[in-house]
Amino acid sequence: MDYGMKNRLSRLIKPDGRCMFMPIDHGYFLGPTRCLERPGETVKPLLDYCDALFLTRGVLRACIDPAIDKPIILRVSGGPSIVGQDLADELVTTTIEEVIRLNAAAVGISIFVGTDYETQTIMNLAEMINECEDYGIPVMAVTAVGKETEKREARFLSLSCRIAAEMGAKVVKTYWCAKDFDKVVEGCPVPVVMAGGPKCETEREVFDFVYDGLQKGAIGVNLGRNIWQNPNPVAVAKALHAIIHENAKPQEAEDIFNEAKNK
Ligand code: 5RP
Repeated sequence: MDYGMKNRLSRLIKPDGRCMFMPIDHGYFLGPTRCLERPGETVKPLLDYCDALFLTRGVLRACIDPAIDKPIILRVSGGPSIVGQDLADELVTTTIEEVIRLNAAAVGISIFVGTDYETQTIMNLAEMINECEDYGIPVMAVTAVGKETEKREARFLSLSCRIAAEMGAKVVKTYWCAKDFDKVVEGCPVPVVMAGGPKCETEREVFDFVYDGLQKGAIGVNLGRNIWQNPNPVAVAKALHAIIHENAKPQEAEDIFNEAKNK
């Protein structure tokens, strides 16, 4: 691996081998979703706890101070909206020149395996990787499920993650699943990070699944709504940071959360 690729990856994945990415890209298909109406304000108090931001070029330019020293993972796929025909019908939205101009540390792009757009979105990924490899820019593949949340089971996730890795993704983002998540990770020859999905009922559920996923081999998270839609986002971020980077157990994370919340 060349210096540029290694250097970018080392900015994203910390020396302990773990990472906490903060996605604020949801508006690219959900519009001004709850608590992300003003993404710059949402993310400001959370920056200390995250290792990278995942967002579109529009929000990056409009809402994020270029002086912040946080690696940027640029979301480069999109097209359909939540009220459109099919969320899977994504194309590449952002050129390699833009990626370089914006000094992104990596790009993120979705694939929709098992849909009418599986070949189209896998080719979006493969072609983006072809371009990014020329410049030493890592690609994070997002194994999307669209509205079909029942797809979040190990067989489907294993298939999607493996295909993403085979195409050349350097990191794969997928969902945690209660059964056989270790098999999902084992079948994927590149690091796996976990997304959060819609907000859980309690913080403890989030701490439990993140801890479990890390024990089963994931290297971290790309987790948004369960942090910034929580009434105490900084306390959740602090607790998750402790699980990811300090090996805190779920109960310890809950204690950290309660202490931070009551401050
Ligand atoms: C949206 C994304 C998000 O980055 C991803 O889903 C993580 O966010 P959340 O934890 O809120 O699900 O890729 O397509």
